[in-house]
Amino acid sequence: MAAVPTPNTYASIETGVYALKRDYSASTRLTAQHYLWKDALKFDLHPSIQIDKSHARIADVATGNGIWLLDTARTFPETTQFDGFDISLDQCPPQAWLPENIHLHTWNIFDEPSEDFVEAFDVVHIRLITVAVQNNDPRPIINNLRRLLKPGGYIQWDEADSVDWSVKSVHPFIDTIHVKESFQQLCGNHDWKRNMMQTLNENGFQGSSTHRIEYDYTMARLWNDVYMSTWDEFAKVVLKTPEESQRLASDAMDQVREGAAIWCAKLVWVACKTA
Ligand SMILES: C[S@@+](CC[C@H](N)C(=O)[O-])C[C@H]1O[C@@H](n2cnc3c(N)ncnc32)[C@H](O)[C@@H]1O
Repeated sequence: MAAVPTPNTYASIETGVYALKRDYSASTRLTAQHYLWKDALKFDLHPSIQIDKSHARIADVATGNGIWLLDTARTFPETTQFDGFDISLDQCPPQAWLPENIHLHTWNIFDEPSEDFVEAFDVVHIRLITVAVQNNDPRPIINNLRRLLKPGGYIQWDEADSVDWSVKSVHPFIDTIHVKESFQQLCGNHDWKRNMMQTLNENGFQGSSTHRIEYDYTMARLWNDVYMSTWDEFAKVVLKTPEESQRLASDAMDQVREGAAIWCAKLVWVACKTA
């Protein structure tokens, strides 16, 4: 496969601009990808997170359309309290239709958390916030998430491995250059993912672990289409080169139909807030 240069697509994201969409297609993508995540991980909270379930309070930060909260809450007693946070609740169901133990709040992850939520949580979960990480540095986010946690509480942070990914094909003669080019635009440079255990351990956490989870070939095309939809949103919001992007999408999907697919493992980091 010919090498594709790494474009610095993230440099053009203006501060405060969300790089993906919040329309019904974007929300449908979040719902679909949640169930793909669940199929790959086989857990909502990593089994190493040991808490008293019935008295726990759990936060889901950057909750999106709240699908992780809704799905996870079903596996917990009704006495477990769940709080979802996002800079925009536009994709979430109305509060009136949520179970009584789920509450949603508007919060920008880069702002000081409200005193009501400081050291309030046993677990803070966050998933797929890569596009909001600024300057390749997750520490401002880690520091604010740490403030939400009780001493000894757990963070679980889930991301796609946008550093060590590839494009697979059913046969080596299939050209995959356009698939690679599109996904590379979405991935940018995310070296912070390589150092997360150390970063967590140096920023108020201990016992950090990384879990890298691969899916198998039977699911590769389904994952591919989720990644292509994410790229499509990113291209429309950030790249703003519609004709070029449309051509690339068409060329990439021709290669996908030939038997190519983006292959991107899942990363889950778990760590415990130091007492
Ligand atoms: C790719 S979606 C992931 C949603 C959800 N975590 C999931 O896995 O389904 C990223 C979410 O991060 C939220 N977000 C982006 N920047 C944020 C910020 N500065 N503070 C809080 N949430 C933010 C977006 O509004 C969006 O809902």
